[in-house]
This record gives sequence, structure tokens and C-alpha cells, in this order.
Amino acid sequence: MKKSLLITALLAVAGLAQAQQRTAFEPGKVWPDNKGTHLNAHGAGVLYDKGRYYLFGEHKIVGPKGNSAQVGVHCYSSKDLYNWTDEGIALAVAPAGSGSEIEQGSIIERPKVVFNKQTGKYVMWFHLELKGKGYAAARTAVAVSDKATGPFRYVRSYRPGAGQWPLGFNPEWKKPVPNEASLKGWTPEWKKAVAEGLFVRRDFEPGQMARDMTIFVDDDGKAYNIHSSEENLTLHVAELTADYQGFTGRWNTIAPAGHNEAPAICKRGGKYYLITSGCTGWAPNAARSFVASSIWGPWQQLDNPATGPDADSTYHSQSTYLLPVAGRKDAFIFMADRWTPKNPIDGGYIWLPLRFEGDQPRLQWADRWNLSAFDAAGAKRGVNP
Ligand code: GAL
Repeated sequence: MKKSLLITALLAVAGLAQAQQRTAFEPGKVWPDNKGTHLNAHGAGVLYDKGRYYLFGEHKIVGPKGNSAQVGVHCYSSKDLYNWTDEGIALAVAPAGSGSEIEQGSIIERPKVVFNKQTGKYVMWFHLELKGKGYAAARTAVAVSDKATGPFRYVRSYRPGAGQWPLGFNPEWKKPVPNEASLKGWTPEWKKAVAEGLFVRRDFEPGQMARDMTIFVDDDGKAYNIHSSEENLTLHVAELTADYQGFTGRWNTIAPAGHNEAPAICKRGGKYYLITSGCTGWAPNAARSFVASSIWGPWQQLDNPATGPDADSTYHSQSTYLLPVAGRKDAFIFMADRWTPKNPIDGGYIWLPLRFEGDQPRLQWADRWNLSAFDAAGAKRGVNP
């Protein structure tokens, strides 16, 4: 009897500990959801809708097979950004062998969800690679849902910009450079040819490659898909149709031949800020930053936004999203992934407050911090609560 009472008491304490509310971010640490399981939402983005945040990310499994889509896109919800409730799989992969573009074993990366006011639908975009084709397909794909948490219905995938030149394209670049196919890769001549449309011309008819991506909805309700294109050499920004489910055909390049991946964007004081990474696969590298007064450019390259120890590897992480904190003007959280490709489910999350020095976005490591870092006093004393 006594023993069972003790067990009941112990269970109650354990239950309390599990239910204990988190009050801070702890970048890089295990981040338990409401069930005590490490969040499984990699390459994530966040939607804020009717007073709740929804986190969407790649659901990974144990072992290297988990680098391809085995389950789908996982969704969590939260009121405070620290405590996340498991909402389950928002977009499920189709059964292996079904022939669907999103069948189990395809690659589904960096999902981003936005709400379309005109249709009342939630629209998810993601980077799609077809099963068995490695990263060759380079497509961007769309799914829709009536509810934020899903289930999302797969619509289709795209190679954007088919048959359309970028807005800023010099008409002279429409003609191939003599011998361009035989230019040696990574030479200055080749880089110049890339910046002047080598791959844009190559992919003009089928449409442009689209790998690492994000979605941005502007103040006027127009939305854009920003993705690594041209063999990851150049970022493209492509306008979405009014229902956010397709492309208008208006697009432009960002940082031609700059070799950027992992685009994450925010708008502050009428300017657009972009944080990206270099291209070293799952291994981290130094982040880059850019500013522009129009989403169509010109984009000015700034410095590595990260400062302090491990700035050269972005604190061992790669950007995925710049999250606007609801109700706080110009407060953005830099969200990044610490990839663990040998056991992808272990991947960690680096969330840090994004600061600005003039136009320059800045990041500083913090072991533990909370949203008061965005208050005037918090900004002064540094980020640790
Ligand atoms: C990274 C990219 C990830 C994933 C990975 C595969 O550079 O940002 O989303 O595609 O490469 O190696």
C-alpha cells in the first residue's frame, strides 16, 4: 500500500515536471514538446494565425534514411514560442510505389506555410526532390489545407520561370556566350558567364531550378517564393499568384553567381533583409546578409551577421527562417538548423534574437534567452535573462 502511494507520488512529480512551462529559449539543447519529445521540425518555418504560432518542419527519423522524406511535414502549435504542442503530421508522404511526386523516399525540405486571405486557405510550399533522383529535380511544390494544422492536400510541383526572363535581365544576355558550355567551372570567366545568364538560358524552357527556399508575404498581400537556383549559384525571387498556389511569371535574380543557400527574409522599416548560407551541404558555414529597398533588388551584400565565437560556422548551424514576433515591432528571431545527417532526428535548433546595427543584421550567441531580449532594457543588458 505504502509502496503504491510512493509510486503515485513519484508519478505525480514526474507529471508536474513534464508539464512545467518553459520560459526561455536554449539554443542547441534538446527542445521537448508537450509530450516530452524533442521537436521534430527541421528546416522549419512559422505561421502566426489567430493568436497562435504554428511551426512546420521536416519530420526526420533515426538513421541516414531519415534524410529523405519518410513521414512528411510535422506541425506544432504554441502561444508563447517556448512551449510547443504536437499537432501531428500536417502533410503526409504518399505510400512508396504510389508514383506520387511526394511518395515516401522523395525529399521534402524547408516547408513554409502562409495563409491566403482571398481564398481562406493555408498554403504550404517546400523544396521537392523526386524519389531516386538525388537533388537533380530541383522543384518547388505546393500543398493546401483548410486548417493551419492540416491535413494538407498535395497540389503540384514547379520549375518556376519557364519561358520568362528575369525582370533585370540584360537583353544582350539572351544570346549564348560563344563556347559557354566548355567554360571551365569556377574560373572568373565562368562565374561572369553565370552572372550573365548561363544557367538562366539553359533552363529557360523547362523552368528554373528551385532548391532551398522560403516564402515571404509582403504588406500588400503579395507573396514571393525565394529559392536557390542555377545549380545553387544564384537565388531567384518569384512572385506568386493571388491565391499563392502558382507563379505570375515575374521573377528576378538575387546575388548572381553568389552561391547562396538557406534563404531567410524579413522586412523592417520598409527594407528587406535576407540572411543566407554558403553551399556546403549539411556542414555549417558562415552566414551572409543582404539588404534591399525593393524585393526585386538591387540587393546590397552586407557582412556575416554572426559575431563572436563560432561566427564562422553560424554557431554550427544554417539559417531557415526569420520569425517576426507578434506584437513586437521589428522583433525577429533568427531560426537555424544544426544538421546531424548520420542521425537526422537528433538535429538541433538554434534560435537567436536578430538585432540591427543600422542596416546590418547582427547575431550574438546566448545559452539561454527570452523575448524580453527585445525590450529596450533587454537589448541593453544583452540577451541572457
Ligand atoms: C543543404 C541544404 C539543406 C539540404 C542539404 C542536403 O545545403 O540547405 O536543406 O538540402 O544541403 O545536403
